[in-house]
Amino acid sequence: MESFGQRAIRPYIPEQHREFYQQLPFIVAGSVNQQGWPWASMLSGYPGFITSPDSTTLTINASAITGDMYYRISVKREANGTISKCLHDNVRVGDVIEAKAPSGNFYIDAAEKRPAVLIGAGVGITPMIAMTSHILNEAERTRHLRPLTILHAAKTTQQRTFTQNFQDAEIKSNGKIRYYSIITQPSKQEKIGIDFNAIDHITADTLRQILALDDYDFYLCGPPAFMQALYDEIRSLGVRDARIFAEAFGPAALIRQIDNESMLLEAIKLLEAENEADEAVIKFVKSGFEQRWNANDVTLLETAENHGLTPNFSCCNGICGTSAVRLLKGSITYRT
Ligand code: FES
Repeated sequence: MESFGQRAIRPYIPEQHREFYQQLPFIVAGSVNQQGWPWASMLSGYPGFITSPDSTTLTINASAITGDMYYRISVKREANGTISKCLHDNVRVGDVIEAKAPSGNFYIDAAEKRPAVLIGAGVGITPMIAMTSHILNEAERTRHLRPLTILHAAKTTQQRTFTQNFQDAEIKSNGKIRYYSIITQPSKQEKIGIDFNAIDHITADTLRQILALDDYDFYLCGPPAFMQALYDEIRSLGVRDARIFAEAFGPAALIRQIDNESMLLEAIKLLEAENEADEAVIKFVKSGFEQRWNANDVTLLETAENHGLTPNFSCCNGICGTSAVRLLKGSITYRT
């Protein structure tokens, strides 16, 4: 690098520059690649994303951006989990695994002005880290940061994941992203306010204490019992069903209390789904069984089971993909 800019390169960072770096919203970084060519790239973030802990170190906290050519998955090792154990024990760098593409309705709109509350329990926190990164990346691109409050429920601090990432997001966002760790069984040495924020189960009272009066979207992800209890608590605060988005990773679906506004929104969605068939003929080719089906009938999986067929299935929610079959022709409209 010195051969390209000898005069500009110092072996130390002057004191006044070290302070200045902390206020910058962007920086142009340069280097020389392995072929000897210089390159420069602009990195941006909220002031504070560049720090200089001493006169020879500059730290730039710039995360991977949306559009990176890879997906990241986070898998918790379960003592009785066949797949999680296999991934942890057998899969190595460079291995190829077959995976279903991301899909579904559980995603966050970074352009929305309304603040959002992300509540995750256990490994249900994994989509929340992706949503938080997306909000930060979009804020860098558009200069609009959707305010987030993240509530992370876990039994112990050892069972938490991504805590540091969320705390970094708080700093990066200048406090527009707030993170609360709620632990039900802290150890005796752990202190509230230092190691975690509250000892509790998340209830309507917790939400009243943490959230200022406002109109929020709520995103929930966790075990079915947690989600149902929390959904009911949030509804008891007068939050409309349409404002609550949920993703379960267990077999049970959320039982919702539908209100008038949510029914209206659902009706609009249905009108928009122009290609959705009201009725069709289902034909199971191997068994030769055929029947008429209309939009109010049970699912295709249930139809098959009702007729004694035994297709593969697991979640019964359209999440796991076990019951998916190959589309030979035509198109499908799929709602979860
Ligand atoms: S059983 Fe999980 S997607 Fe059908």
